[in-house]
Amino acid sequence: MTPVARSGRRTHDPAPDVLTGPVTDANLADLVDRWTEGWAASRGVARERFSAAWRVAIGTDVRAVEYVVDAPSAGVLLDLSGGAEVWFTVVGAFGGPLRPIPRLTHTEVMMSADLAGTHGTPRTPGAQDEVHLDHDGDVAVATVVIDGVPAARGQVAVVGSDAVFDRISTEPAFQRRGLGRLVMAGLTEWALSRGATTGLLVASPDGQHLYSALGWGAVAPVATYALG
Ligand SMILES: CC(C)(COP(=O)(O)OP(=O)(O)OC[C@H]1O[C@@H](n2cnc3c(N)ncnc32)[C@H](O)[C@@H]1OP(=O)(O)O)[C@@H](O)C(=O)NCCC(=O)NCCS
Repeated sequence: MTPVARSGRRTHDPAPDVLTGPVTDANLADLVDRWTEGWAASRGVARERFSAAWRVAIGTDVRAVEYVVDAPSAGVLLDLSGGAEVWFTVVGAFGGPLRPIPRLTHTEVMMSADLAGTHGTPRTPGAQDEVHLDHDGDVAVATVVIDGVPAARGQVAVVGSDAVFDRISTEPAFQRRGLGRLVMAGLTEWALSRGATTGLLVASPDGQHLYSALGWGAVAPVATYALG
């Protein structure tokens, strides 16, 4: 697992400045704290405490609310109620579903990077110009349009020294042409210019291939369940 530079924003946390070994229970909670803060900022939604978990008001029909918690604290989720639109995500090695909440919807991996060391450089000189970047406060959205077609996109939120990358995607017809790499390069350049040093994200199986190729490393498994 990859070392994760700490944000330095949490004065209440006595953990060391740099994690050099495997993720421990204490730094898992810190990662959840930091990632949910950036993720909620990226989506422009509210985040509030629910015991040891964070409750993120995603607000879509299929995913109204998502609770995010580190694996050692997952027991708090037994107090949840709701239907299939209430999701919970456990970060860290987790023994299995919490009864009576059985439905695993997907598994991902939390990844991190020292942003200055990622290999986001476009393969074609000048190709960076193809990425259009719109930013509003601490959030930037990158898009790549090819022949008038939106081919790839992604976004990032900068919170303190962390940059949380989100919704990175390339349309199937345009995949494996370097567009994901381009999007990541544009967002990374912007995040670095805003003072971010550490990248954080939760990666799908496809995403893990892309981010690994760019120099990101896995820090924790992530499992998402639905109540209904
Ligand atoms: C993940 C995704 C954005 C990658 O976009 P992309 O434009 O195809 O990525 P790139 O062409 O820039 O790939 C750059 C490098 O990443 C790696 N890579 C990307 N996708 C890969 C795959 N499916 N399998 C293996 N390696 C892959 C390769 O090393 C690739 O370089 P190469 O093509 O020279 O071998 C795209 O597959 C996608 O949109 N998937 C569905 C949505 C999704 O899961 N998004 C990620 C959310 S975290």
